[in-house]
Amino acid sequence: MELHIVCIPGDGIGPEIVAEAKKVLEKVAEKYGHKLDMKDVLMGGASIDAYGVPLTDETVAAAKAADAVLMGSIGGDPNTSPWYQLPPDRRPEAGLLGIRKALNLFANLRPAYLYPELAAACPLKEEISRAGFDMLIMRELTGGLYFGERRTVTENGVRRAVDTLTYDENEIRRIAVKGFEIARKRRGKVSSVDKANVLDSSRLWRAVVNEVAKDYPDVKLEHVLVDNCAMQLVKDPAQFDVILTENMFGDILSDEASMVTGSIGMLSSASLNDTKFGLYEPSHGSAPDIAGKDAANPIATVLSAAMMLRYSFDLDAEADAVEEAVRQVLKDGYRTGDIMSKGCTLVGCRQMGDLLAERI
Ligand code: IPM
Ligand code: MG
Repeated sequence: MELHIVCIPGDGIGPEIVAEAKKVLEKVAEKYGHKLDMKDVLMGGASIDAYGVPLTDETVAAAKAADAVLMGSIGGDPNTSPWYQLPPDRRPEAGLLGIRKALNLFANLRPAYLYPELAAACPLKEEISRAGFDMLIMRELTGGLYFGERRTVTENGVRRAVDTLTYDENEIRRIAVKGFEIARKRRGKVSSVDKANVLDSSRLWRAVVNEVAKDYPDVKLEHVLVDNCAMQLVKDPAQFDVILTENMFGDILSDEASMVTGSIGMLSSASLNDTKFGLYEPSHGSAPDIAGKDAANPIATVLSAAMMLRYSFDLDAEADAVEEAVRQVLKDGYRTGDIMSKGCTLVGCRQMGDLLAERI
């Protein structure tokens, strides 16, 4: 099979982690007889430096022409990087939001899984981590507060900022369908998260999710208020299978869910539209403090490449092989700095990539 992949190495540790994911993909292609066609394009800070804007039409066009996009991370340190002197719509993050919207990537899948080998890195009490957990956050990615109208005005000498949270029923329905479909392939449970005790957008969310649920009688549905969900994630994460939620709640809850796995350096993500196309990126940021030091953990990016093989190319055996390589490397005791524990072997980003590729 021919795999046309556009890579966005991005900023900070992005180029380092993407290089290791490519290494692993090359090994997969060699072993399973696929042809890789990979091309790098710029986005975020790197694009600002080169073209003055975080996202160019050329990058969008290149992404659209590919089967999938593999991304590292974008952005810099807001306190020191000149990118953050620019107006908000010209900063690195605007590139990421722009490409999500341009490619209609409304479904963001963020799995959070506790590897038994990393149980010691889980910050929760041992009686909680012992139960393990394996959940998937299905976050709506192109609506809500992120894309509603916003403005800052001064009225009678008082500054006022407005952000708008809107959802229409079609936006809710399509992400709910994705959530139920994936729950069916997992453990058959959807926890729909909202703030229906306060927000109209949440009341509509709940109503539409209930309608969609009628087509999935085999999937168990529960509604959880977002504040309660934040609490349950640290109290009893094992209860969750698929968490279905809107954009902003998903942003916050997915960071929380990733942290209870021990390190945000392990968490992959896929952003999908209605076709097989997807953008795959680690859930973590660009970590400018460790950029260029060969200290980053490439596993989240490698696992994102595995999600790409599974969702965009239907290559399940290949995706399994990548995930198994990650498990094996952890079993063999190799760790990057973020997941290091006593008795393990500390390795850098490049060596972690080599070790993973060897195990394909
Ligand atoms: C994420 C990030 C982005 C978001 C930022 C960088 C705009 O936090 O992918 O979770 O809020 O969606
Ligand atoms: Mg986030």
